[in-house]
Amino acid sequence: MNSLRYTTAVTAMVLSLTTPLAAQTGVPVNLPAYEEGKYVHQAPTVEDLMTDESLHPELREVILKGRDMFLNTQQFRGEYVFNDMTCKSCHMGEGRMNWSGPVWPAVTTLPDFRGKNRHVNSVEERIAGCFAYSMNGQPPAYGSDDMLAMVAYHQWLARSAPVYERNIAGRGFSHLGRERPELDYGRGREVYEQQCAVCHGDDGQGQHKDGQVVFPPLWGDDSYNWGAGMTRIFTAASFIKNNMPLGKPGSLSDDDAWQVANYINSQERPQDPRYTGDVRETREQFYNFHQHTNYGTEVNGQLLGDHDNTGHKPFLKPDNLRPRTFE
Ligand code: HEC
Ligand code: HEC
Repeated sequence: MNSLRYTTAVTAMVLSLTTPLAAQTGVPVNLPAYEEGKYVHQAPTVEDLMTDESLHPELREVILKGRDMFLNTQQFRGEYVFNDMTCKSCHMGEGRMNWSGPVWPAVTTLPDFRGKNRHVNSVEERIAGCFAYSMNGQPPAYGSDDMLAMVAYHQWLARSAPVYERNIAGRGFSHLGRERPELDYGRGREVYEQQCAVCHGDDGQGQHKDGQVVFPPLWGDDSYNWGAGMTRIFTAASFIKNNMPLGKPGSLSDDDAWQVANYINSQERPQDPRYTGDVRETREQFYNFHQHTNYGTEVNGQLLGDHDNTGHKPFLKPDNLRPRTFE
Protein backbone atom coordinates (compact mmCIF):
# COMPACT_ATOMS: atom_id res chain seq x y z
CA MET A 1 0.00 0.00 0.00
CA ASN A 2 1.68 3.26 -0.98
CA SER A 3 1.44 6.27 1.28
CA LEU A 4 -0.62 8.41 -1.10
CA ARG A 5 -3.45 5.91 -1.17
CA TYR A 6 -3.16 5.56 2.56
CA THR A 7 -3.46 9.31 3.17
CA THR A 8 -6.45 9.56 0.87
CA ALA A 9 -8.16 6.77 2.70
CA VAL A 10 -7.51 8.28 6.11
CA THR A 11 -8.76 11.67 4.95
CA ALA A 12 -11.90 10.07 3.57
CA MET A 13 -12.56 8.40 6.89
CA VAL A 14 -11.96 11.49 8.98
CA LEU A 15 -14.28 13.45 6.69
CA SER A 16 -16.97 10.86 6.98
CA LEU A 17 -16.90 11.10 10.73
CA THR A 18 -17.29 14.86 10.77
CA THR A 19 -19.53 15.87 7.85
CA PRO A 20 -22.89 14.61 6.63
CA LEU A 21 -22.41 11.77 4.20
CA ALA A 22 -24.02 13.28 1.15
CA ALA A 23 -22.22 16.61 1.47
CA GLN A 24 -18.74 15.15 1.60
CA THR A 25 -18.67 12.71 -1.33
CA GLY A 26 -21.20 13.94 -3.85
CA VAL A 27 -22.32 10.30 -4.07
CA PRO A 28 -26.03 9.77 -3.49
CA VAL A 29 -26.62 7.95 -0.23
CA ASN A 30 -29.03 5.30 -1.20
CA LEU A 31 -30.54 3.62 1.80
CA PRO A 32 -33.69 1.55 1.29
CA ALA A 33 -37.08 3.05 2.13
CA TYR A 34 -38.73 1.81 5.33
CA GLU A 35 -41.39 -0.76 4.60
CA GLU A 36 -44.89 0.33 5.43
CA GLY A 37 -46.27 -0.79 8.77
CA LYS A 38 -42.87 -1.27 10.39
CA TYR A 39 -41.90 0.45 13.60
CA VAL A 40 -39.27 3.13 12.85
CA HIS A 41 -37.06 3.99 15.80
CA GLN A 42 -34.85 7.02 16.17
CA ALA A 43 -32.38 6.07 18.87
CA PRO A 44 -31.40 8.93 21.19
CA THR A 45 -28.01 10.61 20.87
CA VAL A 46 -25.33 11.26 23.44
CA GLU A 47 -26.52 14.89 23.55
CA ASP A 48 -29.95 13.60 24.57
CA LEU A 49 -28.23 11.58 27.27
CA MET A 50 -26.33 14.54 28.66
CA THR A 51 -29.41 16.76 28.79
CA ASP A 52 -31.95 14.26 30.13
CA GLU A 53 -32.58 15.58 33.63
CA SER A 54 -34.72 12.61 34.56
CA LEU A 55 -31.69 10.29 34.74
CA HIS A 56 -29.85 9.73 37.98
CA PRO A 57 -26.28 11.02 37.42
CA GLU A 58 -24.86 7.66 38.34
CA LEU A 59 -27.02 5.93 35.74
CA ARG A 60 -25.76 8.44 33.16
CA GLU A 61 -22.19 7.53 34.12
CA VAL A 62 -22.89 3.83 33.67
CA ILE A 63 -24.54 4.39 30.27
CA LEU A 64 -21.54 6.48 29.20
CA LYS A 65 -19.24 3.71 30.34
CA GLY A 66 -21.18 1.21 28.23
CA ARG A 67 -21.02 3.59 25.28
CA ASP A 68 -17.27 3.92 25.70
CA MET A 69 -16.94 0.12 25.79
CA PHE A 70 -18.98 -0.07 22.59
CA LEU A 71 -16.95 2.58 20.72
CA ASN A 72 -13.50 1.78 22.12
CA THR A 73 -13.69 -1.94 22.62
CA GLN A 74 -9.98 -2.33 21.89
CA GLN A 75 -9.28 -1.10 25.44
CA PHE A 76 -10.19 -4.69 26.42
CA ARG A 77 -7.75 -6.29 24.00
CA GLY A 78 -6.51 -9.54 25.49
CA GLU A 79 -9.32 -9.59 28.06
CA TYR A 80 -12.65 -9.58 26.22
CA VAL A 81 -11.40 -8.99 22.66
CA PHE A 82 -8.74 -10.91 20.76
CA ASN A 83 -9.07 -9.36 17.29
CA ASP A 84 -9.01 -5.84 15.80
CA MET A 85 -12.77 -5.23 16.02
CA THR A 86 -14.76 -2.75 18.05
CA CYS A 87 -18.51 -3.09 18.38
CA LYS A 88 -18.99 -0.14 16.06
CA SER A 89 -16.89 -1.75 13.31
CA CYS A 90 -20.14 -3.44 12.24
CA HIS A 91 -22.81 -1.55 14.23
CA MET A 92 -21.94 1.80 12.78
CA GLY A 93 -23.07 5.17 14.06
CA GLU A 94 -22.54 4.11 17.71
CA GLY A 95 -24.94 1.18 17.32
CA ARG A 96 -27.78 3.64 16.70
CA MET A 97 -28.09 3.52 12.92
CA ASN A 98 -30.91 1.82 11.10
CA TRP A 99 -29.65 -0.47 8.27
CA SER A 100 -26.40 -0.88 10.22
CA GLY A 101 -27.55 -3.47 12.73
CA PRO A 102 -28.88 -1.09 15.40
CA VAL A 103 -28.32 -2.92 18.68
CA TRP A 104 -31.23 -1.67 20.80
CA PRO A 105 -33.80 -4.26 19.53
CA ALA A 106 -32.04 -6.82 21.71
CA VAL A 107 -33.48 -5.21 24.83
CA THR A 108 -37.03 -4.91 23.49
CA THR A 109 -37.26 -8.40 21.96
CA LEU A 110 -35.30 -10.55 24.45
CA PRO A 111 -35.62 -12.86 26.33
CA ASP A 112 -36.60 -14.89 23.30
CA PHE A 113 -35.70 -18.16 21.60
CA ARG A 114 -32.67 -17.88 19.27
CA GLY A 115 -32.10 -20.38 16.51
CA LYS A 116 -28.32 -19.91 16.70
CA ASN A 117 -28.00 -21.62 20.08
CA ARG A 118 -31.48 -23.15 20.29
CA HIS A 119 -32.57 -21.81 23.63
CA VAL A 120 -34.13 -18.74 25.22
CA ASN A 121 -31.51 -15.98 25.42
CA SER A 122 -31.15 -13.00 27.73
CA VAL A 123 -29.86 -9.58 26.62
CA GLU A 124 -26.53 -10.34 28.30
CA GLU A 125 -26.28 -13.56 26.37
CA ARG A 126 -26.93 -11.76 23.08
CA ILE A 127 -24.17 -9.25 23.81
CA ALA A 128 -21.92 -12.13 24.88
CA GLY A 129 -22.57 -13.74 21.49
CA CYS A 130 -21.00 -10.82 19.63
CA PHE A 131 -18.02 -10.92 22.00
CA ALA A 132 -17.55 -14.65 21.47
CA TYR A 133 -17.84 -14.65 17.67
CA SER A 134 -17.51 -11.17 16.15
CA MET A 135 -14.77 -10.09 18.58
CA ASN A 136 -13.26 -13.60 18.73
CA GLY A 137 -13.25 -13.07 22.47
CA GLN A 138 -14.39 -13.85 25.98
CA PRO A 139 -17.44 -11.84 27.11
CA PRO A 140 -17.55 -9.94 30.39
CA ALA A 141 -19.07 -12.20 33.06
CA TYR A 142 -22.85 -12.17 33.34
CA GLY A 143 -23.84 -9.82 36.14
CA SER A 144 -20.45 -8.03 36.16
CA ASP A 145 -20.12 -4.23 36.24
CA ASP A 146 -18.84 -4.25 32.67
CA MET A 147 -21.78 -6.32 31.43
CA LEU A 148 -24.22 -4.07 33.29
CA ALA A 149 -22.70 -1.01 31.59
CA MET A 150 -23.09 -2.63 28.16
CA VAL A 151 -26.72 -3.55 28.83
CA ALA A 152 -27.43 -0.04 30.16
CA TYR A 153 -26.12 1.51 26.95
CA HIS A 154 -28.24 -0.83 24.79
CA GLN A 155 -31.32 -0.13 26.89
CA TRP A 156 -30.79 3.63 26.71
CA LEU A 157 -30.71 3.43 22.90
CA ALA A 158 -34.11 1.70 23.01
CA ARG A 159 -35.71 4.64 24.84
CA SER A 160 -39.47 4.79 24.09
CA ALA A 161 -39.44 1.73 21.80
CA PRO A 162 -42.31 -0.74 22.22
CA VAL A 163 -41.44 -3.98 23.99
CA TYR A 164 -41.94 -7.22 21.97
CA GLU A 165 -42.46 -5.31 18.73
CA ARG A 166 -40.62 -7.45 16.17
CA ASN A 167 -41.64 -5.62 13.04
CA ILE A 168 -38.72 -3.20 13.16
CA ALA A 169 -37.59 -1.06 10.22
CA GLY A 170 -33.89 -1.22 9.32
CA ARG A 171 -33.09 -3.95 11.86
CA GLY A 172 -30.17 -6.34 11.36
CA PHE A 173 -28.44 -7.07 8.10
CA SER A 174 -30.87 -8.93 5.88
CA HIS A 175 -32.28 -6.35 3.54
CA LEU A 176 -31.07 -8.21 0.43
CA GLY A 177 -32.83 -11.40 1.55
CA ARG A 178 -31.27 -14.87 1.89
CA GLU A 179 -31.62 -16.02 -1.70
CA ARG A 180 -28.12 -15.73 -3.14
CA PRO A 181 -27.39 -15.08 -6.80
CA GLU A 182 -24.79 -17.16 -8.63
CA LEU A 183 -21.49 -16.39 -6.93
CA ASP A 184 -18.13 -16.08 -8.63
CA TYR A 185 -14.92 -15.78 -6.61
CA GLY A 186 -13.02 -13.91 -9.36
CA ARG A 187 -15.81 -11.38 -9.77
CA GLY A 188 -15.84 -10.81 -6.00
CA ARG A 189 -12.10 -10.24 -6.03
CA GLU A 190 -12.49 -7.60 -8.75
CA VAL A 191 -15.07 -5.70 -6.71
CA TYR A 192 -12.78 -5.99 -3.69
CA GLU A 193 -9.77 -4.61 -5.52
CA GLN A 194 -11.73 -1.71 -7.01
CA GLN A 195 -13.88 -0.69 -4.07
CA CYS A 196 -12.43 -1.97 -0.81
CA ALA A 197 -8.67 -2.56 -0.93
CA VAL A 198 -7.87 1.16 -0.67
CA CYS A 199 -8.97 1.04 2.98
CA HIS A 200 -9.02 -2.62 4.00
CA GLY A 201 -5.68 -3.38 2.29
CA ASP A 202 -4.77 -5.59 -0.68
CA ASP A 203 -4.47 -8.50 1.72
CA GLY A 204 -7.69 -7.76 3.69
CA GLN A 205 -5.69 -7.01 6.84
CA GLY A 206 -6.95 -3.45 7.26
CA GLN A 207 -4.65 -0.61 8.23
CA HIS A 208 -3.07 0.47 11.49
CA LYS A 209 -1.45 3.72 12.53
CA ASP A 210 0.48 4.22 15.77
CA GLY A 211 -0.80 0.91 17.06
CA GLN A 212 -4.44 1.91 16.48
CA VAL A 213 -6.78 0.20 14.05
CA VAL A 214 -7.73 2.74 11.37
CA PHE A 215 -9.46 0.31 9.02
CA PRO A 216 -10.47 -3.08 10.42
CA PRO A 217 -9.37 -6.32 8.76
CA LEU A 218 -11.87 -8.41 6.81
CA TRP A 219 -10.18 -11.78 7.25
CA GLY A 220 -7.26 -13.48 8.99
CA ASP A 221 -6.40 -13.77 12.68
CA ASP A 222 -7.43 -10.20 13.50
CA SER A 223 -10.92 -10.49 12.06
CA TYR A 224 -14.23 -12.08 13.13
CA ASN A 225 -14.21 -15.86 13.54
CA TRP A 226 -16.01 -18.60 11.60
CA GLY A 227 -18.98 -18.57 13.98
CA ALA A 228 -19.73 -14.83 13.52
CA GLY A 229 -22.96 -13.69 11.90
CA MET A 230 -20.91 -11.74 9.37
CA THR A 231 -19.58 -15.01 7.86
CA ARG A 232 -23.08 -15.62 6.51
CA ILE A 233 -22.87 -14.37 2.96
CA PHE A 234 -26.35 -12.83 3.00
CA THR A 235 -25.53 -10.92 6.21
CA ALA A 236 -22.26 -9.57 4.86
CA ALA A 237 -23.93 -8.70 1.53
CA SER A 238 -26.61 -6.62 3.26
CA PHE A 239 -24.10 -4.98 5.60
CA ILE A 240 -21.88 -4.07 2.66
CA LYS A 241 -24.74 -2.86 0.46
CA ASN A 242 -26.00 -0.40 3.08
CA ASN A 243 -22.71 0.60 4.75
CA MET A 244 -19.73 0.15 2.43
CA PRO A 245 -17.65 1.57 0.88
CA LEU A 246 -17.48 3.89 3.87
CA GLY A 247 -19.18 7.18 3.03
CA LYS A 248 -20.99 5.74 -0.01
CA PRO A 249 -23.69 3.43 1.35
CA GLY A 250 -26.04 2.05 -1.28
CA SER A 251 -23.62 2.75 -4.12
CA LEU A 252 -22.75 -0.87 -5.03
CA SER A 253 -25.15 -2.91 -7.13
CA ASP A 254 -26.85 -5.72 -5.19
CA ASP A 255 -24.89 -8.24 -7.23
CA ASP A 256 -21.54 -6.59 -6.47
CA ALA A 257 -22.39 -6.59 -2.75
CA TRP A 258 -23.11 -10.35 -2.91
CA GLN A 259 -19.95 -11.11 -4.91
CA VAL A 260 -17.64 -9.21 -2.59
CA ALA A 261 -19.37 -10.68 0.50
CA ASN A 262 -18.64 -14.13 -0.93
CA TYR A 263 -15.03 -13.16 -1.66
CA ILE A 264 -14.21 -11.93 1.86
CA ASN A 265 -15.99 -14.91 3.40
CA SER A 266 -13.96 -17.31 1.23
CA GLN A 267 -10.79 -16.36 3.14
CA GLU A 268 -9.46 -17.97 6.32
CA ARG A 269 -10.25 -16.67 9.79
CA PRO A 270 -10.14 -17.97 13.40
CA GLN A 271 -11.96 -21.22 14.14
CA ASP A 272 -15.67 -21.33 15.06
CA PRO A 273 -15.75 -21.65 18.89
CA ARG A 274 -18.31 -24.46 18.42
CA TYR A 275 -15.73 -26.56 16.50
CA THR A 276 -15.99 -30.26 17.24
CA GLY A 277 -12.52 -31.11 15.89
CA ASP A 278 -13.84 -31.84 12.41
CA VAL A 279 -14.90 -28.97 10.18
CA ARG A 280 -17.36 -30.93 8.04
CA GLU A 281 -19.01 -32.33 11.16
CA THR A 282 -19.23 -28.85 12.72
CA ARG A 283 -20.79 -27.47 9.54
CA GLU A 284 -23.34 -30.27 9.62
CA GLN A 285 -24.10 -29.84 13.33
CA PHE A 286 -24.75 -26.12 12.91
CA TYR A 287 -26.13 -26.36 9.41
CA ASN A 288 -28.97 -23.99 10.24
CA PHE A 289 -26.25 -21.33 10.45
CA HIS A 290 -23.50 -22.67 8.20
CA GLN A 291 -25.75 -23.32 5.19
CA HIS A 292 -25.24 -19.59 4.65
CA THR A 293 -21.41 -19.67 5.03
CA ASN A 294 -18.52 -21.19 3.10
CA TYR A 295 -17.14 -22.86 6.25
CA GLY A 296 -16.40 -26.55 5.71
CA THR A 297 -16.68 -26.22 1.93
CA GLU A 298 -13.92 -26.28 -0.67
CA VAL A 299 -13.02 -23.00 -2.31
CA ASN A 300 -10.20 -22.99 -4.88
CA GLY A 301 -9.24 -26.48 -3.74
CA GLN A 302 -8.95 -25.50 -0.06
CA LEU A 303 -11.25 -26.77 2.69
CA LEU A 304 -12.15 -23.61 4.63
CA GLY A 305 -11.99 -23.77 8.42
CA ASP A 306 -9.99 -27.02 8.44
CA HIS A 307 -7.54 -25.98 11.20
CA ASP A 308 -7.10 -25.52 14.96
CA ASN A 309 -6.16 -21.84 14.73
CA THR A 310 -8.13 -19.77 17.25
CA GLY A 311 -6.39 -16.52 16.25
CA HIS A 312 -4.83 -14.56 19.12
CA LYS A 313 -7.24 -16.16 21.58
CA PRO A 314 -5.56 -18.84 23.70
CA PHE A 315 -8.71 -20.98 23.92
CA LEU A 316 -11.43 -22.22 21.60
CA LYS A 317 -14.69 -21.74 23.45
CA PRO A 318 -15.62 -19.10 26.05
CA ASP A 319 -17.23 -20.81 29.03
CA ASN A 320 -20.49 -18.86 28.81
CA LEU A 321 -21.33 -20.45 25.44
CA ARG A 322 -23.26 -23.19 27.15
CA PRO A 323 -26.66 -24.78 26.81
CA ARG A 324 -29.50 -23.81 29.12
CA THR A 325 -32.16 -26.12 30.43
CA PHE A 326 -35.18 -25.19 32.43
CA GLU A 327 -35.94 -28.62 33.79
C1 HEC B 1 -17.93 -8.42 12.74
C2 HEC B 1 -19.16 -7.66 12.89
C3 HEC B 1 -19.74 -7.43 14.26
C4 HEC B 1 -19.13 -6.90 15.38
C5 HEC B 1 -17.69 -6.46 15.51
C6 HEC B 1 -20.13 -6.87 16.42
N1 HEC B 1 -21.31 -7.35 15.96
FE1 HEC B 1 -23.08 -7.38 16.96
N2 HEC B 1 -23.99 -8.24 15.35
C7 HEC B 1 -23.36 -8.57 14.18
C8 HEC B 1 -24.29 -9.27 13.32
C9 HEC B 1 -23.99 -9.81 11.93
C10 HEC B 1 -25.52 -9.33 14.03
C11 HEC B 1 -26.82 -9.98 13.56
C12 HEC B 1 -27.62 -9.03 12.71
C13 HEC B 1 -28.80 -9.73 12.07
O1 HEC B 1 -29.47 -10.48 12.75
O2 HEC B 1 -29.05 -9.49 10.85
C14 HEC B 1 -25.29 -8.67 15.30
C15 HEC B 1 -26.28 -8.48 16.26
C16 HEC B 1 -26.08 -7.84 17.47
C17 HEC B 1 -27.12 -7.57 18.44
C18 HEC B 1 -28.60 -7.92 18.28
C19 HEC B 1 -29.34 -6.81 17.54
C20 HEC B 1 -30.80 -7.16 17.31
O3 HEC B 1 -31.36 -6.71 16.28
O4 HEC B 1 -31.40 -7.86 18.12
C21 HEC B 1 -26.53 -6.97 19.51
C22 HEC B 1 -27.20 -6.52 20.77
C23 HEC B 1 -25.12 -6.84 19.19
N3 HEC B 1 -24.89 -7.37 17.95
C24 HEC B 1 -24.18 -6.27 20.04
C25 HEC B 1 -22.82 -6.19 19.74
C26 HEC B 1 -21.84 -5.73 20.69
C27 HEC B 1 -22.13 -5.26 22.09
C28 HEC B 1 -20.63 -5.79 20.05
C29 HEC B 1 -19.27 -5.52 20.63
C30 HEC B 1 -18.93 -6.30 21.80
C31 HEC B 1 -20.88 -6.28 18.69
N4 HEC B 1 -22.21 -6.52 18.56
C32 HEC B 1 -19.89 -6.45 17.74
C33 HEC B 1 -22.07 -8.27 13.82
C34 HEC B 1 -21.12 -7.70 14.66
C1 HEC C 1 -13.00 4.73 2.87
C2 HEC C 1 -12.57 3.53 3.56
C3 HEC C 1 -13.36 2.25 3.36
C4 HEC C 1 -13.72 1.63 2.19
C5 HEC C 1 -13.43 2.09 0.77
C6 HEC C 1 -14.39 0.41 2.56
N1 HEC C 1 -14.45 0.29 3.92
FE1 HEC C 1 -15.25 -1.25 4.98
N2 HEC C 1 -14.92 -0.27 6.71
C7 HEC C 1 -14.25 0.94 6.83
C8 HEC C 1 -14.24 1.33 8.23
C9 HEC C 1 -13.60 2.58 8.82
C10 HEC C 1 -14.95 0.33 8.93
C11 HEC C 1 -15.27 0.32 10.42
C12 HEC C 1 -16.40 1.27 10.71
C13 HEC C 1 -16.27 1.97 12.02
O1 HEC C 1 -15.48 1.55 12.88
O2 HEC C 1 -16.95 3.00 12.17
C14 HEC C 1 -15.33 -0.67 7.94
C15 HEC C 1 -15.99 -1.85 8.26
C16 HEC C 1 -16.21 -2.89 7.37
C17 HEC C 1 -16.69 -4.21 7.72
C18 HEC C 1 -17.06 -4.69 9.11
C19 HEC C 1 -15.88 -4.84 10.01
C20 HEC C 1 -14.85 -5.84 9.54
O3 HEC C 1 -13.66 -5.48 9.55
O4 HEC C 1 -15.20 -6.97 9.15
C21 HEC C 1 -16.78 -4.93 6.57
C22 HEC C 1 -17.25 -6.37 6.41
C23 HEC C 1 -16.37 -4.06 5.49
N3 HEC C 1 -16.02 -2.84 6.01
C24 HEC C 1 -16.35 -4.42 4.16
C25 HEC C 1 -16.02 -3.54 3.13
C26 HEC C 1 -16.15 -3.88 1.73
C27 HEC C 1 -16.58 -5.23 1.19
C28 HEC C 1 -15.78 -2.77 1.03
C29 HEC C 1 -15.78 -2.58 -0.47
C30 HEC C 1 -17.07 -2.74 -1.11
C31 HEC C 1 -15.39 -1.75 2.00
N4 HEC C 1 -15.57 -2.26 3.25
C32 HEC C 1 -14.90 -0.50 1.66
C33 HEC C 1 -13.68 1.66 5.81
C34 HEC C 1 -13.84 1.39 4.46
